[in-house]
Amino acid sequence: MLLKQCHNFHDFRELARRRLPGPIFNYIDGAADDEVTHRKNTDSFNAVDLVPNILRGVGDIDMSVTVMGQQLDLPIYCSPTALQRLFHHQGERAVAAAAAAHGTMFGVSSLGTVSLEELRKTHKNPQVYQFYFHKDRALNSAMMRRAKDAGVEVMMLTVDSITGGNRERDLRTGFSIPFRLTLGGMAQFAIKPLWGLNYLLHESFKLPQLDEHVDMSGGALSIGRYFTEMLDPSMDWDDVAEMVQEWDGQFCLKGLMSVEDAKRAADIGCTGVVLSNHGGRQLDGSRTPFDQLGEVVDAVGDRIDVLMDGGVQRGTHVLKALAMGAKAVGIGRGYLYPLAAAGQPGVQRTLDLMRAEIERDMRLMGVRSVSELTRDHIRH
Ligand code: FNR
Ligand code: LAC
Repeated sequence: MLLKQCHNFHDFRELARRRLPGPIFNYIDGAADDEVTHRKNTDSFNAVDLVPNILRGVGDIDMSVTVMGQQLDLPIYCSPTALQRLFHHQGERAVAAAAAAHGTMFGVSSLGTVSLEELRKTHKNPQVYQFYFHKDRALNSAMMRRAKDAGVEVMMLTVDSITGGNRERDLRTGFSIPFRLTLGGMAQFAIKPLWGLNYLLHESFKLPQLDEHVDMSGGALSIGRYFTEMLDPSMDWDDVAEMVQEWDGQFCLKGLMSVEDAKRAADIGCTGVVLSNHGGRQLDGSRTPFDQLGEVVDAVGDRIDVLMDGGVQRGTHVLKALAMGAKAVGIGRGYLYPLAAAGQPGVQRTLDLMRAEIERDMRLMGVRSVSELTRDHIRH
């Protein structure tokens, strides 16, 4: 199977599955508990229908959006994800470059494997810095200062990971960083020697956003342990209000779901909220961001930008979210499988395909610009 034979999400996922050692594929692919919420994220898009209009003069299509002060040529952006150089040696460099080629925003995770400064220097498209709230308050301030000094446009605080989700696939394989695998997990690496060779031949594994603050030499750090030991479960609205003040710029909360919380986010000065259940990786049984979108947009859409992520696999999914009032839509696995499958050309190809789908779907819907999409285009 070759890159040019990948036409959709499922094709890229299959190519990634063939290329990656099992524990790494399962880390990306997996979710919490029974993975019900993960599956539902996509199902909820497919449970509503689009109602197109015809004869609207759709020669020119403008799919640009403005979100949290940033002008994006595409209504989708690359949501921040951890450990990208583990999936492909180009890692964040590939994702940032492909996003830049499409004039859209990309996120850099606190658990990213390329420094936020390097990425900010290399590209001009808007960059989000995704942030976790650590027990160490000095670390929080230092991280914000670094992002500010580097010229990062948008601060994104992830609020759905106050403790680690129950990722049973990772428990079985022993996935952790650096690797400390179960025997079964190790056997999985042995059968993907090309991946191993690539990994060993390139720059050694690092977490440059955290390096100065975390000692990884003492042994393996599992994602669950990072959340549980380093993040502060006592974080509350007062702490975040202080951070918003301190940042003094575009600031959004990622992983918020309720109307009540969205109102509070607006009250403390956030400029955006991202409805998200972390791709089903945290609280299984959580409602889907798409299902929750309408009521949150109704409550705060006139005060702050409402974004969402989770389960997006198709241009029509993006259109449905925009029609319900989302300002932009994040993708996670949708670019991670292409990254794992083929590096930068993979991410580039998936964004090319998404752009083509969104353009075609807008024509078929009879809308020329994103602002023409409304709830009249949706039936539940
Ligand atoms: C994530 N996500 C994530 N979110 C975050 O705020 N910080 C992070 O470091 C990560 N890391 C991460 C790793 C992997 C492998 C995945 C799959 C996801 C969540 C991500 O930003 C986004 O919310 C979801 O991926 C969206 O769901 P879909 O598009 O994957 O269905
Ligand atoms: C995850 C973390 C790193 O979902 O956000 O694995």
